[in-house]
Amino acid sequence: MATENGPVMVAEPVVALERPVALPVQTALVPRSPSVVARIGDGLAKGLLLSTGAAVGAQIAMRVDAQLNPHPLPHQMAALLESPVRLAYRNVGDALGLYGIEAGMTTLDLGCGTGLFTEELGRMVGPTGIVYGADIQSAMVEATRKRMVAAGLADRGALHHTGAYSLPLDDGCIDVAILIATLGEIPDRLHALLELQRVIRPGGRLAISEEMPHPSYMAGRSVRRFAAEAGFVFAGKTGNPFCYHMVFTRP
Ligand SMILES: C[S@@+](CC[C@H](N)C(=O)[O-])C[C@H]1O[C@@H](n2cnc3c(N)ncnc32)[C@H](O)[C@@H]1O
Repeated sequence: MATENGPVMVAEPVVALERPVALPVQTALVPRSPSVVARIGDGLAKGLLLSTGAAVGAQIAMRVDAQLNPHPLPHQMAALLESPVRLAYRNVGDALGLYGIEAGMTTLDLGCGTGLFTEELGRMVGPTGIVYGADIQSAMVEATRKRMVAAGLADRGALHHTGAYSLPLDDGCIDVAILIATLGEIPDRLHALLELQRVIRPGGRLAISEEMPHPSYMAGRSVRRFAAEAGFVFAGKTGNPFCYHMVFTRP
């Protein structure tokens, strides 16, 4: 066939287009539907992220609240005091050994909670010693009472349902008082420490221990400041910021 420009060349028309063509790029662009396993994995990862975020948020909220508005750990959460996680870093006997508890002593566990430390105190002071427990929540006092009865130690002391500002104890009757994870829950720390100063005998000891998982955790320097203000003399510290023990003497 001819045109104005000369003959038309028709070279290899349709045949070339009909050859199979490899289209690697195009293939890669086609979205593949994820497998069921991948979708489950995705869902789990998102769920984990969300629950971790919620747990961290709840922890922060609890801590801010506890610092702005000190209050007792609700007795409904008492199981936390004896959770395996806590017992992994809290060795009750070792702690009381650090505080110099001996047979025949008169001791006080202020903020006794479920009696985790009260029971061991009762054992360490022996039949000639005395252990007082005090707590602002009656449910906690009851838990400690049951525990002491079950351990056969009920006759070694007395438990009081009372706040820290006015203890039903005579002046200077205590050799060693302990405050475990409790000072930060008391709104007027100085008031509580002055009351302890009253009931601890001259030369007696006050042991304070704090642990980070507790929302009302108090840093060591803050504890030292309050104790000094109440007239206690710093005698030593052991542990680490996560869980530490401080001992003070009453001049
Ligand atoms: C975190 S718990 C620790 C219990 C226990 N010392 C232990 O370590 O297993 C603190 C306890 O202190 C008590 N508490 C808080 N404020 C108090 C106050 N003002 N007077 C007496 N007890 C108080 C709470 O009721 C609670 O049982």
